[in-house]
Amino acid sequence: MEGGISSFPVPSTRIAVVTGGNKGIGLEVCRQLAGNGVTVVLTARDETRGGAAVEKLGELGLSSVIFHQLDITDASSIARLADFLKIRFGRLDILINNAAFGGVEYNRDPAYASVTSEEELCGMDRDQRLEWLWRNSRETYDAAKKGLQTNYYGTKHVIEALLPLLQASSNGRIVNVSSDFGLLRFFRNEELKQELNNVGNLTEERLDELLDTFLKDFEAGKADARGWPVAFAAYKVAKAAMNAYSRILAAKEPGLRVNCVHPGYIKTDITMHSGLLTPEEGGSRVAKVALLPEGGVTGAFFEDGEEASFV
Ligand SMILES: NC(=O)c1ccc[n+]([C@@H]2O[C@H](COP(=O)([O-])OP(=O)(O)OC[C@H]3O[C@@H](n4cnc5c(N)ncnc54)[C@H](OP(=O)(O)O)[C@@H]3O)[C@@H](O)[C@H]2O)c1
Repeated sequence: MEGGISSFPVPSTRIAVVTGGNKGIGLEVCRQLAGNGVTVVLTARDETRGGAAVEKLGELGLSSVIFHQLDITDASSIARLADFLKIRFGRLDILINNAAFGGVEYNRDPAYASVTSEEELCGMDRDQRLEWLWRNSRETYDAAKKGLQTNYYGTKHVIEALLPLLQASSNGRIVNVSSDFGLLRFFRNEELKQELNNVGNLTEERLDELLDTFLKDFEAGKADARGWPVAFAAYKVAKAAMNAYSRILAAKEPGLRVNCVHPGYIKTDITMHSGLLTPEEGGSRVAKVALLPEGGVTGAFFEDGEEASFV
């Protein structure tokens, strides 16, 4: 099919794409957006897991959820999604970049941690839980590299491919699911921190250079000495880079709303279910920013449901 001609009627509702929609916060965002009358394209890299998630939402009476395969690290998968959206809808109103990888190897299967860690975590506060998560994780070069490839480059490539469709919307918005771990306070190298915060001068090319430098320092065991964040370093660096890119993009695309959200510390696989809040609570913070009234803030960071500092 060509030229945007579709055998399906284009819905009058808003159309959203959610990456990593098969579980955790992503699944909740799909549920909440669909519950607010949005047509949702729930994407997942695994067709079986994605299909099962759509079925689950269908059982809740949410029939406006469509599945499409998407691995955010696979260029052809991204291109297939862009083609599908172009033909089926001709535009995109909301893009939720939720898919991510922890950037570490876990000492136990995160999917089963919800059962196995319950007793250990009982009575622990936030810092103790993060400490527990850290003790059950290992930083390796391969995991760090995959963290940057997924969380920064994968997200960026999805945005680039879907940008023309967002521009075709009268109210296009991008919500990048970020983290308080991406805040610049974790960078102990003051120059680096300033550079990442000075988004008026920062370029995408410079961001690429900085990420290359981080990986080299990490591989050489010098990341700590050079003032990069410590503990979950690749995750923190990738989220900080995504925040910076969001701010650059927001300035370049004033017609769009491009914002970042920290969902909170949530009980999902990525935290081995050590979080303090439920996926429903995390998902509602993301959905809230996605559904902000037209013409609102752009290039902002949201934490606890409120606009907050990137630093
Ligand atoms: N949980 C927290 O406390 C917390 C805090 C701050 C920020 N966040 C952010 O919230 C977002 C959602 O995380 P979560 O807590 O819901 O974790 P999660 O349950 O582990 O979900 C991660 C999702 O990302 C998907 N994914 C990973 N790599 C992918 C790829 N290459 N292509 C497509 N999908 C991919 C996973 O798919 P598979 O099932 O196929 O692996 C899964 O659907 C992430 O951006 C995370 O960084 C979470």
